[in-house]
Amino acid sequence: MESHSGKYDTVKLLQAQSHIWNHIFSFINSMSLKCAVDLGIPDIIHNYGKPMPLSKLIASLPIYPSKTCFIYRLMRILIHSGLFSEENVTGQNELEVEYVLTDASILLLKENPFSMTPFLHAVLDPILIKPWYHLSVWFKNDDPTPFEKTHGMTFWDYAGLDPNLNHLFNDAMASDARFVSSLLIEKYKESFQGFESLVDVGGGTGAVGKVIASSFPQLECIVFDLPHVVTGLQGSDNLKYVGGNMFEAIPPTDAILLKWILHDWNDEDCVKILKKCREAITSKGKHEGKVIIIEMVISDKEKRDDKSVETQLFFDMEMMALVSGKERNEKEWANLIFFAGFSHYKITPVLGLRSIIDIYP
Ligand SMILES: C[S@@+](CC[C@H](N)C(=O)[O-])C[C@H]1O[C@@H](n2cnc3c(N)ncnc32)[C@H](O)[C@@H]1O
Repeated sequence: MESHSGKYDTVKLLQAQSHIWNHIFSFINSMSLKCAVDLGIPDIIHNYGKPMPLSKLIASLPIYPSKTCFIYRLMRILIHSGLFSEENVTGQNELEVEYVLTDASILLLKENPFSMTPFLHAVLDPILIKPWYHLSVWFKNDDPTPFEKTHGMTFWDYAGLDPNLNHLFNDAMASDARFVSSLLIEKYKESFQGFESLVDVGGGTGAVGKVIASSFPQLECIVFDLPHVVTGLQGSDNLKYVGGNMFEAIPPTDAILLKWILHDWNDEDCVKILKKCREAITSKGKHEGKVIIIEMVISDKEKRDDKSVETQLFFDMEMMALVSGKERNEKEWANLIFFAGFSHYKITPVLGLRSIIDIYP
């Protein structure tokens, strides 16, 4: 940072300071968004039916009278982040500013079937945030994950013991599953045709399983997950819930869906899971089945914009902090797939930051 003359390059120094400040304060983006959702701002603006003046927004919010003057500032940072947009900004009076939703905040509406609000509530819950305070300590000892360092047990054991976390997490997964399953059926329908049976391994409360079962009535579907997740859930004509452990045995089937499972586990565990999948597919004596994996394939920097790569890396770190898992690039996926005894694979990048990876015995 020193110039040729031995003096500081002031421009670079100030840019570096700004860069560090930006990173120190990045959590404010997440927390401001959470606050807006907790206050119900996306739904309030949506229900207003047209651009909503700040004064009307303030009047509709369940806030303490002395806090009304702060809403403009909360909205200002959220507009900067692209989560809302503003109209009529030329007036002198800030109360005349009018707010509208953007494509992003539409995804936060409660009634939107693709609402990402449950995902936000889970990821930003203190139980999931606390392990981040122990990241550097975890690096210095032999605790398997920062989550275990913080809470004294694995994430899955915690979810099994704490109904609050169990619901929070299952709701988050179900909201993402609704999102993905609708895209799957729209863009990838042919992939499920020609099979008689499918097991959604780690299928949670069955959000994807239900959509697949109703879209393909000839397909016998099983949602397979840990007993505390599926106990008491009601299936339908062609959908059953089965409790069990994927490391022990997976019900025999033609096809398996693994959505957001393998990124929860390290390579050794992934190979164990994939081998169990292979046994379940080939145990029927047929070899034309497949495993459909839905996961991120970490992109080469040159192929994606910075924000997309950064988001994939956020997920990778989240997996490291919570569950010993990771996000993988194509080479890492190929290693796992071949090591588990599968013969070939096909990656179809049609789900935004995630891809469909078909693997064949
Ligand atoms: C990240 S969630 C994904 C849920 C669902 N596939 C989805 O994407 O919405 C991982 C799922 O794996 C389940 N799981 C964890 N360990 C398991 C095991 N040993 N056997 C079966 N399921 C397991 C969890 O209960 C959870 O539902």
